[in-house]
Amino acid sequence: MTKNILGLHLPTDPRWVDLASISLEDILTDHAYCEQKAAASCISLIQRYPSKERLVNELSPIVTEEWGHFRQVLAELQKRNLKLGKQRKDEYVNRLLGFQKKGGHEEDRLLDQLLTMALIEARSCERFKRLSEGLNDEYLCGFYRRFMESEAGHYHLFIELAEDYVYKEKVRKRWREWLEYEAHIIKNLELRGDRIH
Ligand SMILES: [Fe+2]
Ligand SMILES: [Fe+2]
Repeated sequence: MTKNILGLHLPTDPRWVDLASISLEDILTDHAYCEQKAAASCISLIQRYPSKERLVNELSPIVTEEWGHFRQVLAELQKRNLKLGKQRKDEYVNRLLGFQKKGGHEEDRLLDQLLTMALIEARSCERFKRLSEGLNDEYLCGFYRRFMESEAGHYHLFIELAEDYVYKEKVRKRWREWLEYEAHIIKNLELRGDRIH
């Protein structure tokens, strides 16, 4: 696979997919909540920036799409007689949120929120690629390939939105900082097969 998919600095440890393949109920549960959170985050962005017309128009259909993803994962669990478990604490996302600028100029805060979304999409896409290539089940490989393609599209959209609202050079500079920070998080997170990140 491509070493640094979507610019990510640190590829996922190849052992992760093996761990994930033996915890299907947990990985599907975690995936389901990731999709829910993606939908909820898009709704929050629309609520926070109602005057940004392009953002509102582009993210509205993504809410529907992410919710559709949640329903697909839920259906997959039920088809296999597996249960949607409880939502876990999302260490990866929490650490990313800790890197966001909270005060200062509104433009900087918007930029960080869009780049956080872009990064979660990029890492999810990378993990889905791993699953689509590494699982020993043709059906599931196709299942994850479709998610991979969809989340890659969302990654591009969040970067485009950032470049639409913020000076391009500033976006690139901050994106490099985010990539570096994200690699640091991945490096320090416990490798577990029961979660997407
Ligand atoms: Fe999704
Ligand atoms: Fe997405």
